[in-house]
Amino acid sequence: MEIKVVENTKDIPCDVLIINKFEGKQTSNPLINRFAPESFTGKKGEMFVIHTQKEYPSTYILALGLGEEQDMDNNVIRETVAKAVKKCAELKAKTIAFDIETDYTFGVSAVIGTSIANYHFDKYKTKKEHRISEVYISNVDKESIEVAKVIADSMKLARNLANEPAAFATPTKLAEIAQGLEGIETKVYDEDKIKELGMNAYFAIAKGSVEPPKFIHMKYSSGNPKKRIAIIGKGLCFDSGGLDIKPPSSMLTMRDDMSGAACVIAVMKAMAKLKPEIEVHGIIAACENMPSGSSYKPGDILTAKNGKTIEVDNTDAEGRITLADALCYACELGVDEVIDIATLTGACMVALGTAASGIMGNNDDFVKDIIKVGAYSGEKYWQLPMWKEYRDNMNSDIADMKNTGTRYGGASAAGMFLKEFVTDNVKWAHIDIAGTAFLEKPQKEFCKGATGAGVRTLISYITCNS
Ligand code: BES
Ligand code: MG
Ligand code: ZN
Repeated sequence: MEIKVVENTKDIPCDVLIINKFEGKQTSNPLINRFAPESFTGKKGEMFVIHTQKEYPSTYILALGLGEEQDMDNNVIRETVAKAVKKCAELKAKTIAFDIETDYTFGVSAVIGTSIANYHFDKYKTKKEHRISEVYISNVDKESIEVAKVIADSMKLARNLANEPAAFATPTKLAEIAQGLEGIETKVYDEDKIKELGMNAYFAIAKGSVEPPKFIHMKYSSGNPKKRIAIIGKGLCFDSGGLDIKPPSSMLTMRDDMSGAACVIAVMKAMAKLKPEIEVHGIIAACENMPSGSSYKPGDILTAKNGKTIEVDNTDAEGRITLADALCYACELGVDEVIDIATLTGACMVALGTAASGIMGNNDDFVKDIIKVGAYSGEKYWQLPMWKEYRDNMNSDIADMKNTGTRYGGASAAGMFLKEFVTDNVKWAHIDIAGTAFLEKPQKEFCKGATGAGVRTLISYITCNS
């Protein structure tokens, strides 16, 4: 899809021209007055389509309700634009144009909404979905549209990677993709190096699979970085549960268990294009969690990179073990901030559903900053507590901790587990995207499947803070 910024979209020959109306406000757009019926009030998401019968350069005009003008925000724009774009696709439109009258900064959210709505994972279908190929937009700031395009492109990459079957998106494949990123320096560590670096907890998860693990370290740095930050993505290319195997219905979507990794790769790609004045490390301990003769076992004791020992209580709580070593590795880089993003717990999904990701960390202001950036960029986060009680449930008689606590409060327990591997002087936030990364049915602007959770927030957070 190509986005074209032009002076004026009114007279562009296209399939659909999208015009807007605010609820309860007279519009000066003569097209609305000419074509839309009285009953079209401009309620949020309301649409009215007419065929222009060649009286106009566009084949159709779509009048879009944006609700009351004082309620306008990025979410309203993204969601209503996405709705309009889906309507355009139904009309089999290829070229669309936006002629939107508002003082509100419209462009960025419109581009992102359009791109989200125009996304389909149809690589493996012989009959492809219909897509919009050209979008004209006016009255926007060209520079911010370029940023929006980068964000939209990264979201698409993250969604593609997470939607791919595990047979395609293997640890080796993720490493190849990371190594192919232009403007990013990537190191990939194999089995021997992983052991040599002392990441034996992570290796224990990987050793049950015939797919070799790949520890991926991407780095972006500007000349004079104002800050150094590491982002870590959970990279379980497939989570069968291991010997504590999952029931079929829970295993079905577990190719998405590398959504955190997909997000990190996508964010790194954006860094190279946006070039913020910062140093960003993208880290992924990629592997599969499989049952086999060489799997790690319940009752095993694993030693993480920082020397702490973990009694394996349940082999399905594998993500936190891989992240433990990745967190140690990141802290050793001496960065100022670490953010990990992971499809970590079913408990987080039970608590927050698909509407919001869970977030927690060791510094309240840091966590709140990310929540704020998320709200602005269209992603919801809900802070979960980090109380000692959750940690107490993981006390072990034979090691420093177990990898699971009780069934209750599972998202916070996982957070408390991760905290054991974070150096105290590093600001750290943990984002649980178990509920938000992958949709079992369409939701708002998203179709079924991967959403690219975290991509918008992390890109915006890093670029705003540089
Ligand atoms: N990958 C899962 C978490 C998950 C569940 C992600 C649903 C997306 C959707 C994780 O590895 C897992 O299996 N967690 C267990 C932990 C439990 C054994 C303590 C869970 O949540 O059931
Ligand atoms: Mg698991
Ligand atoms: Zn998992």
